Amino acid sequence: MTIMGWVQKNRNKGGLVFVDVRDRSGIIQVVCEEGKTDAALIEKAAGLRSEYVVAIVGEVAMRSGAVNDKIATGEIEVIPSELRILSEALTPPFPIEENSKTKEEVRLKYRYLDLRRADLQRNLMMKSQVMTLTRQFFSEEGFLEVETPVLGKSTPEGARDYLVPSRVHPGSFYGLPQSPQLYKQLLMCSGFDRYIQIARCFRDEDLRADRQPEFTQIDMELSFVDVDEVIDVNERYLARVFKEVLGVDVPLPIQRMTWQEAMDRFGSDKPDLRFGMELTDVTDVVKNCGFSVFTGAVENGGSVRGINAKGQGGMPRKKIDKLTAFVKDYGAKGLAYIAIQEDGSIKSSFAKFMTEEEMDALIKAMGAEAGDLLLFAADKNKVVWDSLGALRVELAKQLELLDKNEFRFVWITEFPLLEWSEEQNRYVAMHHPFTMPMEEDLPLIDSDPGKVRAKAYDIVLNGNEIGGGSVRIFQDDIQEKMFEVLGFTKEQAYSQFGFLLDAFKYGVPPHAGLAYGLDRLVMLMAKQDSIRDVIAFPKVKDASCLMTEAPSVVDVKQLNELGLETTAETEK
Ligand code: AMO
Ligand code: AMP
Repeated sequence: MTIMGWVQKNRNKGGLVFVDVRDRSGIIQVVCEEGKTDAALIEKAAGLRSEYVVAIVGEVAMRSGAVNDKIATGEIEVIPSELRILSEALTPPFPIEENSKTKEEVRLKYRYLDLRRADLQRNLMMKSQVMTLTRQFFSEEGFLEVETPVLGKSTPEGARDYLVPSRVHPGSFYGLPQSPQLYKQLLMCSGFDRYIQIARCFRDEDLRADRQPEFTQIDMELSFVDVDEVIDVNERYLARVFKEVLGVDVPLPIQRMTWQEAMDRFGSDKPDLRFGMELTDVTDVVKNCGFSVFTGAVENGGSVRGINAKGQGGMPRKKIDKLTAFVKDYGAKGLAYIAIQEDGSIKSSFAKFMTEEEMDALIKAMGAEAGDLLLFAADKNKVVWDSLGALRVELAKQLELLDKNEFRFVWITEFPLLEWSEEQNRYVAMHHPFTMPMEEDLPLIDSDPGKVRAKAYDIVLNGNEIGGGSVRIFQDDIQEKMFEVLGFTKEQAYSQFGFLLDAFKYGVPPHAGLAYGLDRLVMLMAKQDSIRDVIAFPKVKDASCLMTEAPSVVDVKQLNELGLETTAETEK
């Protein structure tokens, strides 16, 4: 047989040379031994260095030495009869090995070497498998893959658009798609009743561990359906992918939870259901108590909610202070606590403002016992939810309650249609302006728009939003109303979305869809903490690529051709 690959390492034991050869399927040991291998070959093998590319012809034999049960080929070895060096290699700037301790900046600069590591190779192979299965599954279900343009019209939805200047139309720009949303709705108008695309999307937004400026969606749209049909086909899809790729059974149907319930119980619209520590609303219990932080929040229309960290009553004050600092990032002004000691005595940041009865009532409402730690936030609902929702997950991390081998899915449904934007002083669409309101809430759209719920759904896995979608508006009057509530004039709506509104005049089927973040989905399947670990050439926090050094300054000549001039002071 012939093996070709990279030299992982070689060990020369004087007349006995072991060479580990690596390719993407793994590592195999080649043994050159005096008596079995000719002397010239042994010498050549002894001179091999890490990352040389070699071709070796030889026989496979059972290992004469100790079996290595850490690798799949641990029971065998190759006895070579021929060795060719296909290319030599410089010493890599970091060792090519799993669970690298090398700083990510260095690894990303030499990403082509980093990608030789077994863990990243496994991640990308898994991603490829998921993509293949996705195409296969949806094709079997009658979906058609249709490509949509990357050079499109700038229609800022949620995030900022990336713009591409036009040479032929100086001063005009294409927008890169934040998603194929409008095109896929047009495809429904054209009669392609089941569309799927593995589509590249671009969003100029602040990056996080689970966000990249360009990422991939598994994007779909269906005609003549409502919420249940979209959910049904997607549950079967998820079950199939998890079974085939990970051997994991996803019990169907997947649990559904309304947005309101998710916020009330978990303080988040992407609740992690792998652990408890749910929020308790104690507004009614404390609304007349002596602690002005609590009563003040209630008087301002807010709420007081708490979480019970079971068995954490002994948490040192310093650690509680750190948690207080943590929730301040989410807008909380503080974190009030009651630490119930094992002997039943109490340490609390606000006991001095409360009567004994008031404290007892609060502890009872929290279902607390000796040894528990109770943490409270008082503020506007949004602040309380955001801070306690994040605190709950932070505590679970600290207490090691999160098992990456457990996969807990949940559909979040009945999202609010609109969200008040302080910044813009108007309502904005929570999902996008084409999302259908729930029929029974339509009468509220003028009187109390904030109360209207949408036919929108997210699929959440272990506290991550892996996908989202909605039933779309296909009636003129509702769409007009929606634009009106969003503060668009008819002209503004037309200048941005005229082509869609026109298309709807020529016979539009009811339709709905959904898109997954493929990278996020694979990140969770591969049990990684960062989306960068499942993307071959990712960007870093400031949206640059450390390897190619994109984005970069371009020639004045290129700018002139585009009719552009830059006012940014060129760095260095
Ligand atoms: P949405 O904006 O919710 O919906 O996006 C769908 C999914 O894409 C993933 N995602 C991202 N992944 C990585 N980096 C990012 N910057 C990023 N932004 C979003 C998330 C998210 O759930 N057109 C609608 C879908 C529809 O209504 O059919 C849309 O784009 O996992
Ligand atoms: P203070 O009276 O400001 O010393 O606050 C007493 C306790 O209440 C401290 O533990 C604060 O962290 C906490 N606290 C202050 N503001 C809030 C708030 N909005 N919600 C919950 N706890 C708070």
